[in-house]
Amino acid sequence: MSLSTTLLVLLLAYSTNASHFYGTVMTYHPKQSSAKGSTITVVLRYKLGFRSCSDSDTWGCFSGNCGNERSLVVKTISEKKGEWCHSEGIMTRLVPSNGLFQLRIQGRNWLENQNGVTAWRAVTLVELRNRSDTNHANRSPQTTILPALRVPSNCLRNIQLLAFDPDGDEVKCRYGESRFSECRSCNKPSVLSLSSSCRLQFNPTDASGVAFAVQLVMEDFPRQTINLTETNGKLVTKTPKDALSKIPIQFALKVDPKVTSCIEGIYLPLFVHPTPTNGALLKVFVNHTLTIIIHAVAISSRINNQLLLSSPSNVIQNSTVEGQFVLSWMPNDDQGEETHAICFVVHASSSDNSRNYYSDLRCVAVNVEKGE
Ligand SMILES: *[C@@H]1O[C@H](CO)[C@@H](O)[C@H](O)[C@H]1NC(C)=O
Ligand SMILES: *[C@@H]1O[C@H](CO)[C@@H](O)[C@H](O)[C@H]1NC(C)=O
Ligand SMILES: *[C@@H]1O[C@H](CO)[C@@H](O)[C@H](O)[C@H]1NC(C)=O
Repeated sequence: MSLSTTLLVLLLAYSTNASHFYGTVMTYHPKQSSAKGSTITVVLRYKLGFRSCSDSDTWGCFSGNCGNERSLVVKTISEKKGEWCHSEGIMTRLVPSNGLFQLRIQGRNWLENQNGVTAWRAVTLVELRNRSDTNHANRSPQTTILPALRVPSNCLRNIQLLAFDPDGDEVKCRYGESRFSECRSCNKPSVLSLSSSCRLQFNPTDASGVAFAVQLVMEDFPRQTINLTETNGKLVTKTPKDALSKIPIQFALKVDPKVTSCIEGIYLPLFVHPTPTNGALLKVFVNHTLTIIIHAVAISSRINNQLLLSSPSNVIQNSTVEGQFVLSWMPNDDQGEETHAICFVVHASSSDNSRNYYSDLRCVAVNVEKGE
């Protein structure tokens, strides 16, 4: 092997090792179709989690006519130093018709995990056909997730994922399946039970200091039978048993050492008033500021002044008093007429900093309206 080949091999080995994957999520919103012709603009927003902010990857076309990528903007949302970096990508595509297509992202190193998932893959199925009930193209469910959620090994914990659908569809979750190419190895985490309403229950385990790769698919189902019309006039019927679109929601679940008490508010931070309830639907106008006040308490631990946050990258967080956080967001024109997901977790530590404690995942959906 020549010296340059050796260097190349070393560099490749280094880069794949460095790109430890921490999951992804993708949602989409169709925008106005062009006045003449049938071209549709669709905005796809995704999150990616990697060990380091210098890692990244891109989505590509997997099936159907994915049209052309018109723009792609990637920004860092939040970072948990030494653990993960969370970024947001906004991809605008111009598609020639409203036919089905799929986008895919894949790579090698998932974060080391107990369920034996090594390579990673995620798929989004974009359904843009015109719905008979809304007279508009279908929109995907809206959700987001942090790169990692942490639970103490000895506590039963429930994780209710945000599952908001702008068309009013029923949203369901299931594990990704290899036969649909939704993950590379689709092994399920043994410590979780999933309900179709997107609630994960963590069952206590003896193992701690380990991680699981959680690879889910979220789908929207019409509540009544509807027709979908293609640009060429072709019509298909969908019943409440038929999924319309599908999006990936993947993250790491980390199991921390036992806690002395599983009751929230002692070691584990507890959300209190005026924190919005989980799944709350908020509203804001473009160019106006939405303020979300979050308050958490924990009598036997110290609450960290940084929220772990998954949101549009222009959401700003502030904390002046321990356990109190303020999120401020002024959505821009591009974010108008869409629903956006914001999820957060509060992090606390023991007084000697040797132990870490995490709140539940809390999420809201925000409807951004134009006008005013
Ligand atoms: C969807 O169908 C309705 C009713 O036929 C029509 O008015 C509307 O323009 C269509 N929208 C699109 C995006 O094709
Ligand atoms: C769907 O299309 C069929 C055939 O045109 C029609 O008979 C039916 O009423 C339509 N259903 C709905 C829900 O629009
Ligand atoms: C929002 O502000 C921008 C920049 O000032 C302006 O161009 C845009 O028209 C405003 N949008 C709305 C809906 O008010």
